[in-house]
Amino acid sequence: MRILGIESSCDETAISLVNINKKGIDIERSFVSSQIDIHAKYGGVVPEVAARMHVEVMIPLLQEAMGRKFKAEDIDAIAVTYGPGLITSLLVGIETAKTLSYVWNKPIIPVNHLEGHLYSSWLESDELKVDRRDIFPSIVLLVSGGHTELVLMKDYGKFKSIGGTRDDAVGEAFDKVAKLLDLGYPGGPIISERAAEGNPKEIELPRPMLNSKNFDFSFSGLKTAVRYYVTGKKLRERDVNNIAASFQEASVDVLVQKTMRAVEQYSAKSVLIGGGVAANKKLRKELLIAADRAGVEFFCPKMKYAGDNATMIALAGYYKWESMSKDKQKSLIKTWEKLEPVSSIEL
Ligand code: KG4
Ligand code: ZN
Repeated sequence: MRILGIESSCDETAISLVNINKKGIDIERSFVSSQIDIHAKYGGVVPEVAARMHVEVMIPLLQEAMGRKFKAEDIDAIAVTYGPGLITSLLVGIETAKTLSYVWNKPIIPVNHLEGHLYSSWLESDELKVDRRDIFPSIVLLVSGGHTELVLMKDYGKFKSIGGTRDDAVGEAFDKVAKLLDLGYPGGPIISERAAEGNPKEIELPRPMLNSKNFDFSFSGLKTAVRYYVTGKKLRERDVNNIAASFQEASVDVLVQKTMRAVEQYSAKSVLIGGGVAANKKLRKELLIAADRAGVEFFCPKMKYAGDNATMIALAGYYKWESMSKDKQKSLIKTWEKLEPVSSIEL
């Protein structure tokens, strides 16, 4: 089936056309229009500005994706993110999906953004075919600007959160530390770039909740430790690199150790990561080493699918569709009557 994916939960407008069946995933179109440059001026995402930008680019992006090649009859379903995210941003994607569904008479599959990140490892992976049930149970580490969660995935569509952050998300901590170091927004990519030039052993930073018995995280204390360290100091370029490296190492240490402890406790056969922070090279490398040592498989999304995109939304929509009865699938034609954005939802 061919699914049109729509994503607008934060500061990326994205449209994808994905042809998926039991044999494989064919990504026919995957467009992402990022607003990062605009929000960077304000040091973070401004919801009102984000919503206006989504309105501006959504239809041109759709037009580009459909081109001359695809017509309404070529689309089997529309998968759209309904949350979590900024309400005014989500509304743009949802209203676009509703209008298309009404005019084309096609079903809408509402998708939880986190579920999208969860399936992102399947995208363009040579090893992860559409149906790879042998990798379950799997431990999924979801790390983004708004979430840090460990998820036990028992099968397609069957997941349970086993722990999460009690305060800041790890991506948020990267962004806040970058602000403290005057490195701009978003912080993740620039911190990891500067970290590559620094010494991670130079500054001793805490590893919050590393030894707690549960699978919860806390990143606000780590950020505060960086703030104490930098307050009143005149930082040279070398100092900034060392702080970035030490902060990255502390974050990655906690994420990797807790993930691997979950793998052991739940006898998982694989580890998956998803979300914007999954683009962090150090995290990818350390998880790969740890998974290898534990004898479990490790899958991560291709770099371009780590951040927000509509291809992962289409894919999550596919698995949701496949798990439904024919009647339930038919009822999705009417989804436009009641679909609403939700700012915060669990998996
Ligand atoms: O998934 P995402 O694109 O949006 C949300 O759903 O939040 O994640 C964005 C987050 C930001 O906090 C950004 O700083 C972080 O992902 N990020 C990174 C890296 N690239 C993006 N964090 C660490 N290292 C990176 N290379
Ligand atoms: Zn995201």
